[in-house]
Amino acid sequence: MKVVFITGGAGFIGSALIRLLIAESDWRIVNIDKLTYAGNLASLAAAGRDPRHVFRHHDICDRQAMDALFAEYRPDGIIHLAAESHVDRSIHGPGDFIQTNVVGTYTLLEATRTYWSSLDTAARTAFRFHHVSTDEVFGSLGPSGLFDESTAYDPRSPYSASKAASDHLVRAWQHTYGLPTLVTNCSNNYGPYQFPEKLIPLMIGNAVAGKPLPIYGKGDNVRDWLYVDDHARALKLVFEKGRPGETYCIGGRNEMTNLQVIDTLCDLLDRRHPGSEGRRHAGLKTFVADRPGHDQRYAINADKIRRELGWMPLETFASGIEKTVSWYLENTEWTSHVQSGAYRQWIDRNYTQR
Ligand code: NAD
Ligand code: TYD
Repeated sequence: MKVVFITGGAGFIGSALIRLLIAESDWRIVNIDKLTYAGNLASLAAAGRDPRHVFRHHDICDRQAMDALFAEYRPDGIIHLAAESHVDRSIHGPGDFIQTNVVGTYTLLEATRTYWSSLDTAARTAFRFHHVSTDEVFGSLGPSGLFDESTAYDPRSPYSASKAASDHLVRAWQHTYGLPTLVTNCSNNYGPYQFPEKLIPLMIGNAVAGKPLPIYGKGDNVRDWLYVDDHARALKLVFEKGRPGETYCIGGRNEMTNLQVIDTLCDLLDRRHPGSEGRRHAGLKTFVADRPGHDQRYAINADKIRRELGWMPLETFASGIEKTVSWYLENTEWTSHVQSGAYRQWIDRNYTQR
């Protein structure tokens, strides 16, 4: 049975990946997560209780702990998602982004290299270090054009600069030491269990509570939205079939302005969760000061992963957003625990630092 380390498995995308892997593989998963504000074991749902899932509460910056995990579990590969992930937080406090995204990735690469060097030739060849990254490393597009694997790096926020640095480290470890690495750069994800600081869950939560919907600047910035389960399927595929040393861009070809996204959500909520006295949710839209250095447009050309690995998103934006709204309306306990901070008490009761 394959043993795979997943870092950041208690986060939004990592938990979606673990739910998928428990359902659709026979791998044994070692989930390594520090449980920052963004980590929530409740997001793993039933997958978290499966005997093939082991949770280890650690910081990826802790080299000794990483070495001990490699010695204990002897993994066949690693899918590295642990990161600080929110642009606005990176603007207000970049330090944690440098620490986890840059120093943490470096620490993990070195721990991996030490372990990988000790393997026999067949195991070294089969091993994979898959680094999960973002399209934001490519900077910002004008009105036309798409990012692809040959686009030059041009990160412009502390978040994207820290992710770009980590991508470069991973490629350097491949080029210099021969570590069999894979890098994926994906566009904006949305779906169940996303922390409500990101655009879509924030807007759903505020709209349902009758609170203002804060739109940065003119609301004309464009993002290319991908349903999180489509990303998880792409990650599994790249990890299993991707060519070592290669990069794969992942995106849904769902370009929308922020205003289009928010109007879609308001229309859906008018139907699914009508406001009192027929109040329309769009009336909550509030234009606020723009994000400093706000990237104008992201869009991905995903031809390579489609051509080489046969990946296609299963959800359109219309189907994915409908599922997402339903999930947030039906899972108010998850959201209210996150908003109240109660999910952290649950973690403290159940896990202690090892
Ligand atoms: P998230 O913020 O929801 O989850 C991050 C997880 O990493 C959390 O569980 C957190 O506890 C954990 N973590 C943070 N610092 C850690 C540390 N030092 N040691 C161990 N664990 C730590 O993020 P997400 O949205 O699930 O993103 C996962 C990955 O995918 C990130 O690398 C991100 O850059 C990348 N990505 C995200 C998107 C997106 O739209 N969310 C798009 C493309 C790529
Ligand atoms: P976000 O979900 O933070 O993702 P990213 O910045 O990584 O793309 O934001 C998506 C878009 O929504 C981005 O253009 C910023 C904008 N936005 C708002 O207009 N209001 C908000 O309250 C938030 C959180 C984001």
